[in-house]
Amino acid sequence: NIQNHYDFVVREAQYTRLCSTKSILTVNGEFPGPTIRAEMGETVYVNVHNKGRYNITLHWHGLKQPRNPWTDGPEYITQCPIKPGEKFRQKLIFSTEEGTLWWHAHSDWSRATVHGIIIVYPHKNSDYPFPTPDAEIPIIFGEWWKDDVKKVLTEFIESGGSPRNSDAITINGQPGDLYPCSKSETFKLNVDQGKTYLLRMVNAAMNLILFVSISNHELTVVGADGSYTKPLTRDYITITPGQTMDVLLYANQEPYHYYMAARAYSSSAAIPFDNTTTTAILQYRGYYYYPSTLSLPYLPYYNDTQAAFNFFSSLKGLPEKYPHKIPLQVNTHILTTLSINALPCQRGQLCEGPNDTRLVSSMNNISFETPSIDILEAYYYHIKGVFGRGFPRFPPLLFNFTAEYLPLVLEIPKRGTEVKVLKYGVSVEVVFQGTNLVAGIDHPMHLHGFSFFVVGYGLGNFNKHLDYKSFNLVDPPLMNTVFVPTNGWAAIRFKATNPGVWFLHCHLERHLSWGMETVFIVKNGEGLYETILPPPPDMPPC
Ligand code: C2O
Ligand code: CU
Repeated sequence: NIQNHYDFVVREAQYTRLCSTKSILTVNGEFPGPTIRAEMGETVYVNVHNKGRYNITLHWHGLKQPRNPWTDGPEYITQCPIKPGEKFRQKLIFSTEEGTLWWHAHSDWSRATVHGIIIVYPHKNSDYPFPTPDAEIPIIFGEWWKDDVKKVLTEFIESGGSPRNSDAITINGQPGDLYPCSKSETFKLNVDQGKTYLLRMVNAAMNLILFVSISNHELTVVGADGSYTKPLTRDYITITPGQTMDVLLYANQEPYHYYMAARAYSSSAAIPFDNTTTTAILQYRGYYYYPSTLSLPYLPYYNDTQAAFNFFSSLKGLPEKYPHKIPLQVNTHILTTLSINALPCQRGQLCEGPNDTRLVSSMNNISFETPSIDILEAYYYHIKGVFGRGFPRFPPLLFNFTAEYLPLVLEIPKRGTEVKVLKYGVSVEVVFQGTNLVAGIDHPMHLHGFSFFVVGYGLGNFNKHLDYKSFNLVDPPLMNTVFVPTNGWAAIRFKATNPGVWFLHCHLERHLSWGMETVFIVKNGEGLYETILPPPPDMPPC
């Protein structure tokens, strides 16, 4: 059932979870939303009709959209929102990605319920780089609030503090049987003994990095973010918001029932998080006895940074599959700090941050301000005054970003809409450096328009004299969302061969709302295939 045209009607629908019913925003009334299936190299069109009450945009997470930033989707970055009653026909160009990706709303917090999976199959004349699985099972992790998500967002923004925790972590939209009122709806993975299953995992949670495991079974990762990896067998995996993992599951155990479980990883208990556990049930066919208790699988402790870090630093790519080469030489080095910041309180504001401040976040101490005309149109039509080209404006001033006590003055960021302009074809390295301002925390950083090689990770400060030696330039994984560990760093490399306007942001929704984002503009090259395609005629007007 591969098709190349979809109709996505954004509208409200009633859903009941945890014994309470609310109206949520959906696509076609479905939650999680409809699956898009494509073959590598295809082009697909999605007609998005906004029949909801609010502005919306949709983004195809992990699709590079070569030369076509127009239908990438982030609100006020590549387009103005689709207003209620309007529509926008979005072109999805599948180029080199293969495996599991996803789509989601990219305005406000609507992606909490407006998301779905994208499955990219190998091209007709090619195959998986592993034995063909007997079947595949999509696994989408999410978060559910009993309250309206708009209300949760408004409350969060007004408070100046952290957002309210969700009421449940979900698997394919279901909270699992450890939460009140969801036992019978718990998601079931039905398997036959002796068969192999490809679990296509998406972490669509708003704010939670997750540990995932299945009792008595190992998980073999064979792909991440729409690129294949060397097989990595573990008893748990770590997956950040924004990431996808292709995981082989061998149904080779006694034919009983087993728990799949996921819970949040949070490097600090001081930062509120949902410390509950979500479950699904792996049930072997032919075994009908439903046990009254199942035992939970092993999961690392909630604050086990080493466990998260070990998983990601063990993941290796498959260089022979890559269409492009790992940049060994770099023309443009970017070091950017990722910080949580605090603004002094103003009269009349709620200030629930630490010491009566308002929390924000920043890259290179610039807290991004979303413009009111999208950056792509401003760039393409030379509209002045929408953005500046000053990212990273200030080279990080300080060496010890991860010290326990940092000068308080650094907690106050600059504010602005600053982007980085890159020449076509340059080799770029970005080192993301976590800081300990206000609170050290992990950041899943996501770049639109590219897959990048993750060439290094480390804890503490990045040291350019020592850490280059540890880079993996042989078989780094090709990803679109990188885990930057608490008070640590991660380094990525890519070649800027996709002209356009590409969003770069933390995929923890609260950090994105606070300003942890910027934009890379890649200029046109000289060649025929090195320039931005013309805009579609039905771009939503600003
Ligand atoms: Cu998953 Cu900017 O997106
Ligand atoms: Cu973050």
